[in-house]
Order: sequence, then structure tokens, then C-alpha cells
Amino acid sequence: MAVELQHAMKPTPTGEDLARQRFVSGLRMFVLNDLAGDLRRAYDQRVVPDFQRDHGRAPANGSEVHAALRQDPTFKTYSALRVNAQKMVWDSVTPMVAREHDRLSAVADTASQGRVQTRADFKVPRSVSAIDVHFMPGSYTGSGAPDDVTPGAVYDQGLAVFSMGLMGKNLDDIGLSMARYVSRKFPDFRPLRILDVGCTIGHNTLPWKQSYPNAEVVGIDVAAGGLKYGAARASLQGVDVTFQQMNAEALEFADGSFDLVFSSMFLHELALKTTGKVFKEIRRVLRPGGLMLHMELPPNTQMGAFEGFYLDWDCYYNVEPFYKAFRDQEPADLCRKAGFAADRYFQFVVPSIGSYGTAAVDEAIASEAHAVNCETTGRLANGIQWFGFGAWKESAQ
Ligand SMILES: C[S@@+](CC[C@H](N)C(=O)[O-])C[C@H]1O[C@@H](n2cnc3c(N)ncnc32)[C@H](O)[C@@H]1O
Repeated sequence: MAVELQHAMKPTPTGEDLARQRFVSGLRMFVLNDLAGDLRRAYDQRVVPDFQRDHGRAPANGSEVHAALRQDPTFKTYSALRVNAQKMVWDSVTPMVAREHDRLSAVADTASQGRVQTRADFKVPRSVSAIDVHFMPGSYTGSGAPDDVTPGAVYDQGLAVFSMGLMGKNLDDIGLSMARYVSRKFPDFRPLRILDVGCTIGHNTLPWKQSYPNAEVVGIDVAAGGLKYGAARASLQGVDVTFQQMNAEALEFADGSFDLVFSSMFLHELALKTTGKVFKEIRRVLRPGGLMLHMELPPNTQMGAFEGFYLDWDCYYNVEPFYKAFRDQEPADLCRKAGFAADRYFQFVVPSIGSYGTAAVDEAIASEAHAVNCETTGRLANGIQWFGFGAWKESAQ
């Protein structure tokens, strides 16, 4: 179900807004759970036998799964409903944001003061500005003034509808789950400077401050309006984090200036040619002995062909052009190519803290679970688990 956000940067929904949003969340639940089950059955019972008859084997990779599935009526129904539900996510929240634009702008002007740095001459990469990422009208930057808070408000409200309650009331389930993982798994690691790269509105940045109250926590992103909105959102919740407009390809921080650099759901939205640069920059700004940690979609190399394609669906049908190319990479290779030693790489799967509770998260940490579960890892549906990977920078000798 759509969650009603509790913080003070939100517009007040009318009964009609709420009904529309609940309907869209419910439709997405139906598509991503029930129709997804029908799709799997159609694949096993119809598509694979047909493919086997023609090729003498089952589809071997995601591209073959896609080619075999695309004419199947169940796939067409699933995809058509999912695309339309995605567009309806944004349609269901934009009227209330537009209605309260002036009030939200005034609140953000005050509440974000001293907590956000943006630049009028900043050049937003075309990978963000030239497409409506996941059908979000105007992408992360919007069509108004560069620091207009509309895209931030639309993203926040849209994510509440999109995530169907699975990301929690403050949309911070990923950050809470990851911060819990790090703090329990590495109790002696006490970061004092933490950077969240590609933070959008900072919803998954805040849990780092909550887990490490003594740390200075900074979020960066290329989209100014989202940062300003996020700075106000954080400040109105009493969480002391700051935000800066910056391109992750050229971080404006000194070498060795962070203990922990985090990202979530960020790398799959980078053009592949820039991913290596971003990893190198993260390594540069980490202090010796520091930790780079990414929450991401699990890689295709660690999943079955059907499940791999199931996640890559977004690349073909949801304006996520870089998704598959990123997921075709091996995370350990990306870390190694950036200069991290191969034996400092690690990966893990952590159950969503909101869905399973802290005890289950702690149990998963203790049991060293790191295999990708094809049915649940990275799938925004009942049973969601998050995939994480990272690497420690070597200590100074
Ligand atoms: C899917 S959102 C990340 C969401 C957020 N981190 C979360 O936890 O849900 C991707 C974000 O990356 C930002 N972004 C894309 N390219 C970037 C770059 N080169 N440097 C910094 N931010 C970038 C986009 O503006 C967008 O806000």
C-alpha cells in the first residue's frame, strides 16, 4: 500500500489524491506479485517447452529469455500493466505537488538554509537530463528553475506510491538495512565522515547519521532541486546532514577525506563509460582503511537467466537505459579495476529491515549470507532483500 509520508515537507493529500495513490500502489502490488507469478508459470509451461523444441535447450541468458517471452500474451499483459502503472505513479502525485508548490518552495527556502550548496552554472550530465528516467516527467532535474523543489517533492511522493510500503514510512529501508549491516558486521569501524553519492533527496542518507551520530554526513547529487528539497526534508526531521551539488565523476573533495562512501540504487543509472571513473573517484576520496559500500541490483552473473531478465525488464520498458549494462558487470571486477585489492572485496544480501525486522537482519549478518536469492533479492515485491557489495581501501603501511 502507498505510505503517507510523515515529515513536514510533504503536501497535504486530498481524499481523492489518497484514493488514486492507493489504487496505483495496489495495482503495482498486483502486477509485481500476482502477475509476476503468472509470468513465471507461462515461462515454465509454455515458453521454455517451445524454445526447447526449436533449439534443443532452454534459453541460456536474459536476451534469449526476452526474445522468447516477448510474444507471449502473459508477458504482454504484465508489461502493458506495469508500464501504465509506472506512469500512473507520477500522475497520482504531481497534482498535489503543483497545488502546494509555492508553500513547499517557501518552506524549503528557510529549512534548507546553510545545509545545501548548489551552483547556477552546474552542468548536469545528459544521462540524467536528456531522458525522463523511469518515466518521471522532467527526470530528476524537472523543467522549472534549476533549484525548483518540484522534482524532489514528486520523487519523494512518487517513491511512496511506487514502493508500496516496502521502503518504509520515511523511504529509508535501504539505508536503515545497510547501516545496520555495517554497524553490526564491523563493530570496530566507526566512521567520522560519511559520503552518500547520488543521494537524490537524501532519504537513504539520513540513516547513516542516525547510526553514527558523531559522524559528519554529506550527500551529493547532480540535481539541485532534489538536494534543496532533501536538505529541508532532513532539517525538518532534525537530522543534521548536508548536501552538495556535485558530479560523482569528479568529486570536489580532498584525497582521503571520508571513512565511508556509500551509494544506493545509483550505479545502474550511470552510463557505463563513466562507472569506472566514479569508482576511482570514490577510492581517491576514501582514507586508507576506509570502506566503499554500494547497495545495488544483483548482477546477472549471479542469477538464473529468467530472474536476470526479470530485473532487466526495466532497461527495455522503463526508461532505465543503463540498467542491463551495469548488471552485466561483475561487482568484484568493478572494484578491482578501480584499484581495490581483490581480497578486500565482499558482498552480502540483507533482508529488508522493515519487512523482516531487526532480529532477522542480525541473523543474516551473523550467518554471513551472501548468495543472491533469485526470487527475492533486488525484487521490489513481497519478500524483498537487498544486495550490497563493497571493498576496503588498503591501510597505509
Ligand atoms: C535512482 S537515484 C538514487 C536514489 C537514492 N540514492 C536512493 O537511495 O534511492 C539516482 C540518482 O543519481 C543521480 N546521479 C546520476 N548521475 C550522477 C552523477 N554523475 N553524479 C552524481 N549524481 C548522479 C541522479 O540525479 C539521481 O538523483
